[in-house]
Amino acid sequence: MLTTKQKTLRKFWYAVMPVHRLNDGPKPFRLLGEDIVLFLDAAGRPAALKDRCCHRTAKLSKGWCEKGTLVCGYHGWAYDRGGEVVKVPQVSSEPVESGFSTPAYHCEERYGYAWVALEDPIQPIFEIPEENDPGFRRIFQFYDEWKTAPLRMMENSFDNAHFSFVHRATFGQPDQPKPQRYDIAETDYGFYAASTVEVKNPPEAHRVTGTSDPVTSRKMVNHWYLPFSRRMDMEYPSGLRHIIINCATPIDDGRIQLMQLLYRNDTEKDCPTQILIDWDWKITFEDKEVLESTDPDATIDISRKVEAHMASDRPGIIMRRRLLELLRAHGEDEVTDARA
Ligand code: FES
Ligand SMILES: [Fe+2]
Repeated sequence: MLTTKQKTLRKFWYAVMPVHRLNDGPKPFRLLGEDIVLFLDAAGRPAALKDRCCHRTAKLSKGWCEKGTLVCGYHGWAYDRGGEVVKVPQVSSEPVESGFSTPAYHCEERYGYAWVALEDPIQPIFEIPEENDPGFRRIFQFYDEWKTAPLRMMENSFDNAHFSFVHRATFGQPDQPKPQRYDIAETDYGFYAASTVEVKNPPEAHRVTGTSDPVTSRKMVNHWYLPFSRRMDMEYPSGLRHIIINCATPIDDGRIQLMQLLYRNDTEKDCPTQILIDWDWKITFEDKEVLESTDPDATIDISRKVEAHMASDRPGIIMRRRLLELLRAHGEDEVTDARA
C-alpha cells in the first residue's frame, strides 16, 4: 500500500509533533507526502497550513510567529490559523482582508501532541481514559523517524511470534517460540485483542515490571485504531499497568514518524522516567532494526486461509482486510508498488 496514493488516508487524524516543539516558532512536517507547517496561534493552540506561501511560494516554515499569526520570511505576509492572509505590510501595517489564502488543515492538541487531519476526519481521535485519571502518569517516550511503512509497524505490534527472536536479548524467551493466541473482537474503530504472555524479566526490567521473578507474565488487552495507531495495555502480576500508545504517522511512502507515549499507575519514586525510557527504547530499537529491513510495500497474502497460516499473523491479516474494505467503501482501490 502506497500511503501517499490512498486518498482515504487523508481523512484520519495523525499525531504529528509534540506541541512543545512549537514554542520557539513554526516547524515543518511532511504528512502523507504533503508538506505542512505547524505553529501556535494567539491562544497557544497548534495550527497547520500548507507549507507554501500564496505570494511567491516560499516555505512558511522558514518564517516566524507574531501575535498568533505565521509570518512569511520572504515579504512578511501574515497568516491566521485558517490560512487567510491577514496582513500585507507593503500595503498597510494594520490587519487587512486580503482575499488571499493558503490551504489550512484540521489541527488539535491532544495528549501533548499536535494532531492533523488533511481532510474532514471520518473518526475522532481515540480516547485514552488514563489521560484524566490521577492514578496514572503520562511519560513522553519517543518521537523517532523509521524507514518502514505504517502497516508494517502495526502488524508487528500485534505479532506475538516475534518476541522469541527479535526480543531474545530483552524479554523474549528463545526456547519458547510458540506464541500465545489472541482473542480478537472487531470493532468500528478497528479491533481489540487480548492475550497473556510469559516474558523474561532480567534485572534491568525489575523496576519496570514491579517484580524480581526471573520470568513474569503480561496480561495484554491491546487495541488497534484504524489506520495506524495502537494501544498496548499490559498488566503485570504486581498490579502495575504499563500502557504504550503508538502512532505510526505516515511521512511518505516507506517512512513513518513513530510516536510513543507511556501511561503507568505508579510514581517517579517507584520507577524513574529515565529507566522506563531506556528499557522501552532498547526493546523498540530491536523492532526498528528488523522493520527497517523489511519491504515496506509487500502484502500479506490474505487469500490464504488463516487456519493454514501462522495464527500469529491473524491480527495483521484482519488489519489488511479492514484497510482494503475502508478504501473500497470510499471508492478507492489499493495502490501498490509494482515490485511488491
Ligand atoms: S513569498 Fe511569502 S510573502 Fe512573498
Ligand atoms: Fe516487538
